[in-house]
Amino acid sequence: MPIHILDHPLAAHIITHLRDKTTKPATFRTLSYQIGLLLAIEATNGIETVSKEIDTPLERVQGRVLTHQPLVVVPILRAGLGMVQPFTDIFPDVSVGYVGLERDHETAKARTYYCKLPPLAGRQVFIVDPMLATGGSAVSALTAVKNAGAVNPTLVSIVSSPEGVAAVEKGHPGTVIHTAALDRELNARKYILPGLGDFGDRLYGT
Ligand code: PRP
Ligand code: URA
Repeated sequence: MPIHILDHPLAAHIITHLRDKTTKPATFRTLSYQIGLLLAIEATNGIETVSKEIDTPLERVQGRVLTHQPLVVVPILRAGLGMVQPFTDIFPDVSVGYVGLERDHETAKARTYYCKLPPLAGRQVFIVDPMLATGGSAVSALTAVKNAGAVNPTLVSIVSSPEGVAAVEKGHPGTVIHTAALDRELNARKYILPGLGDFGDRLYGT
């Protein structure tokens, strides 16, 4: 299973404060940005570079720079919006697409209400959504970006459940997942345990 779990003391520190129910929305947003930055760096580990010769003040040296390989970040609305700025800050040329999905509170099934994607053929696509619970939202978003031409899109989440990871593997085998935490299980209402509650509500104070 191609799942990569962030292994860094700073990630553990941030996740612990995100989980803490006393953390207020302003701090929650800052922490989301910070963990998003660590994940964005980790998830783009494999992007291409080319060699480039430059002059330091002292001598000529062979360095490496990013190719103009166009990256696309696709947040799942609304909570995924909290993970966009980390990508746009470190990759200023990144394009942003949007998939709007909302879980029904009774059934926990995701319903699509919006989809706006740039051309995806030949581009490396990163779907960002902080919570991978049942996996219903992620599976729908992966289907949407593949229908729009994406090949091997990567999924980036902050907290994942084993059930969600299994659902993604079943629906889209081989999908690479980057996450900051793989939690224990879902509860009867399909919330992640120990989790951090409803990410969107905590991010936006709703
Ligand atoms: C949350 C979360 C994910 C989804 C995960 O969104 O941000 O998108 O649930 O659950 P799943 O894996 O079971 O599909 P929610 O539907 O609450 O909408 P919101 O982002 O607008 O708050
Ligand atoms: N969505 C959330 O925001 N949190 C969960 O635990 C599950 C789905």
